[in-house]
Amino acid sequence: MPCSVVLGAQWGDEGKGKVVDIYTAESDVVVRYQGGHNAGHTVVIKGEQYILHLIPSGIMHEDKVNIIGNGVVVDPEALIQEIEDLKSKGINFEGRFFLSKRCHLIMPYHKLFDKHSEKKKGSKKIGTTGRGIGPTYADKMARVGIRVCDLFDDEVLREKIFENVEEVNRIAEKIYGLEKLNANEIFDTYKKYGEYLKPYVAETSYLINKLYDDGKKIMMEGAQGTLLDVDHGTYPFVTSSNATAGGACTGTGLSPVKISKVIGVMKAYTTRVGSGPFPTELEDDMGERLRRVGGEYGATTGRPRRCGWLDLVAAKYSVIINGISYIALTKLDVLSGLEKIKVCVGYKYEDKIYDTFPPELKILEGCEPVYEELDGWSEDITNVRNYEDLPVNAQKYLDFIKGYLGIKYSLVSLGTDREQTILIDNVF
Ligand code: GDP
Ligand code: IMO
Ligand code: MG
Repeated sequence: MPCSVVLGAQWGDEGKGKVVDIYTAESDVVVRYQGGHNAGHTVVIKGEQYILHLIPSGIMHEDKVNIIGNGVVVDPEALIQEIEDLKSKGINFEGRFFLSKRCHLIMPYHKLFDKHSEKKKGSKKIGTTGRGIGPTYADKMARVGIRVCDLFDDEVLREKIFENVEEVNRIAEKIYGLEKLNANEIFDTYKKYGEYLKPYVAETSYLINKLYDDGKKIMMEGAQGTLLDVDHGTYPFVTSSNATAGGACTGTGLSPVKISKVIGVMKAYTTRVGSGPFPTELEDDMGERLRRVGGEYGATTGRPRRCGWLDLVAAKYSVIINGISYIALTKLDVLSGLEKIKVCVGYKYEDKIYDTFPPELKILEGCEPVYEELDGWSEDITNVRNYEDLPVNAQKYLDFIKGYLGIKYSLVSLGTDREQTILIDNVF
């Protein structure tokens, strides 16, 4: 009765969508446990691209169950749009898609506050996706959030919306100089969303445990990445949830003792969207080359991603705090054609070399990366399907990472399509 967690080992956009889609073939159930539609997970099947934001990437496989766990924050408008888009492409949801009654809802005022608080921060902005994620999690923790189950009790929904909007309007007017929101309108809109979503709503904590007890293979799909985790990441330049392995338990109701494996998805180099420290960032031609060849533009906001060399100090931290035993390494093909490839194995700051990932932003921002330089390869590797057929220097690059991190590979990805993959180990 295995349960594997597939999560991002860097700052997001590692290729989780592709990896989850591939391993869905071996699992029965795919579950999202945190984040919201700030995520953008790309799946490419026979040249056709799908970008999933809220719905688990397992939805692309006809016969699999897909669940949005309680830890996810849901914008019902965005969810309905995504369901409709996928339905129009022939994807069936009936009887195999479930939404937790305990999910917190993103309300119009969360989106408004997200955008305006960023504006107010000016140069100190986090560079959020503007989807209302932070304010929704803040309300959840402040115990004033509105949950999916509230959509089905008019009295409760009305009371909560009115109480919140009263408070919101005070802040909106005084702090941001905005027009007042209309609680009645929000109530009517959310009630309609509830009617649409009702067939999919379930007590998913019981459902997941039942599926597990019935011997189904469960895969948890992380959103964002370890270094964007609110506890373990580059705070405050993080998202507002636990993208790390622990989030898979709190965000679903499945006990930690039931998780058998954690697979970290990692790019062969590093990218980040939004503000915050990034020790190996390349603000030169090489950074531009990685962005161009890797197509590094956000799947959610379209923003250019910041690019840099692979940071093994950060990756090792990720391996340790998540208990990663397998890495799914993506985008190795993007490095083809480079004469030399650098990997960061330390941070030098004020005469001290760090081989651990420090919490102090000052160190992360001010450090000089210590690099190892490896030889590159010139061959196109996108059609390689076996590790042994990779150029020797590509093998050496993979072996260096494996040795440094003390992990195995579950797969190595060499292109956007499902097929462009070297499958190394089964994750169940
Ligand atoms: P996620 O958020 O972790 O699911 O990743 P994104 O979908 O935001 O970004 C990953 C991007 O890289 C997508 O455009 C994928 O289609 C693409 N991709 C994934 N694996 C590979 C690979 O091995 N090689 C190349 N060239 N592109 C890849
Ligand atoms: P996937 O799942 C990359 C970043 C934003 C910003 C910070 C906070 O596709 O890997 P938020 O809107 O969450 O409050 O923004 O987190 N961010 C991501 N970066 N990939 C993502 O998701 C991200 N989701 C949020 O750019 O820096
Ligand atoms: Mg993404």
